[in-house]
Amino acid sequence: MLALSTPLREQLNALCTEQDNRDPATPFFVYDLDALHAHVSRLTTQDVVKLWYAVKANPLSSVLNTLDKAGFNFDVASRGELTQVLSQDIAAERVLNTGPAKSPAQIQHFLDAGVTTFVAESLNQVRWLNDAAEQHQKTLTVLLRVQLRWPAGDKNPLGGDSLTPFGLGSEQWQQLTLSDYPALDFAGLHIFQWGNMLDASKLASLWQQMVPPLVSLSTQLGMPLRILDLGGGLGVPYEPDQQPLDWDQIIDSLAAIKAEAGVQELWMELGRYAVAHCGYYLNPVVEQKENYDEHQLILAGGINHLLRPAVTGQAFPAQALRASTAADRQYHLHGPLCTALDHLGTHPLPEDLGYGDWLVFSQCGAYGFTESMPYFLCHELPAEYVFKQGQLYCIRQSEHADYYLR
Ligand SMILES: Cc1ncc(COP(=O)(O)O)c(C=O)c1O
Repeated sequence: MLALSTPLREQLNALCTEQDNRDPATPFFVYDLDALHAHVSRLTTQDVVKLWYAVKANPLSSVLNTLDKAGFNFDVASRGELTQVLSQDIAAERVLNTGPAKSPAQIQHFLDAGVTTFVAESLNQVRWLNDAAEQHQKTLTVLLRVQLRWPAGDKNPLGGDSLTPFGLGSEQWQQLTLSDYPALDFAGLHIFQWGNMLDASKLASLWQQMVPPLVSLSTQLGMPLRILDLGGGLGVPYEPDQQPLDWDQIIDSLAAIKAEAGVQELWMELGRYAVAHCGYYLNPVVEQKENYDEHQLILAGGINHLLRPAVTGQAFPAQALRASTAADRQYHLHGPLCTALDHLGTHPLPEDLGYGDWLVFSQCGAYGFTESMPYFLCHELPAEYVFKQGQLYCIRQSEHADYYLR
């Protein structure tokens, strides 16, 4: 369970008391930028791996600014993410474009904006990138995204060993004749198939198994492997018995992979591991009820604001905001939607919780606010706050449904 710092807890208590006087009290996110700054600055203090921030994890401007100050570059996967990064005064040269659905129009748009580094995920993308580069009289740095298969199958949201739209198998890439694309500098390969990994030795072993087929593909293509991009996938603990990854151990494994692959540069685009721990979701309790000898807490917000538990079956850690001397009991946590999927997990929480209390969900800095389904049932959109140098600031007010209903 992640501990809220005392100053943050005090300010959240004050904010929630103020909210309780409103009708209705609405859930909100808060991001501890002081903690984020300390964490990400540590990640960039090494010279083994060049770090990009996967903007999809949390595109909030203050989060981007904190990552920027720590020396991260930016991996963007859509026009919207690109606009958000560029509007923070981050240069287009520090942007990498990944994503399986890059149309010719999107590629043109990225080149117009000055982006020159791309991960190509298909033979068509290679052709479209070359066409756009020739029109712009530019040379683009391109990594080919590879999808490998292992004998021991494994599934997860990034695909694991399943067929996914992310890149192509080695056989398919071998159809490519690099000299047909003179405007592209093929600098290396990209691979990323496992998300939220918490076992450092399994990660190291997966990375190690990737090296021989990738080196062999680059030889077959006649492409010196200068850059290897291992994507993201570093996990964070969501469950009480899970331990965080040890960054020093990760860096040691990456240094070994870099040497084995013989590359000049190793890249990663981190999302979850960079920002998950800095975010909390504060959610008012509407009521407690007993049902078939089990205890349920009905909450103002659910998967409309935090979709991840419905997609992965894994809950965010939860605690009560107020201190209580009451014993804990197991509660099923339910949101306000008309589906049993709207379930935020089963957690031990104090027996005396009820209307007027608040729950704090942690690890919500990544894949929270923007990975949700806020419009279903027309509940309020959550607010977003940041905690910076000991003060809370509201970045986005909560909105009622009439804000978007037409
Ligand atoms: C291409 C790419 N890189 C990096 C990431 C970030 O992954 P993570 O949050 O596991 O670090 C993602 C997430 O989906 C991705 O699609």
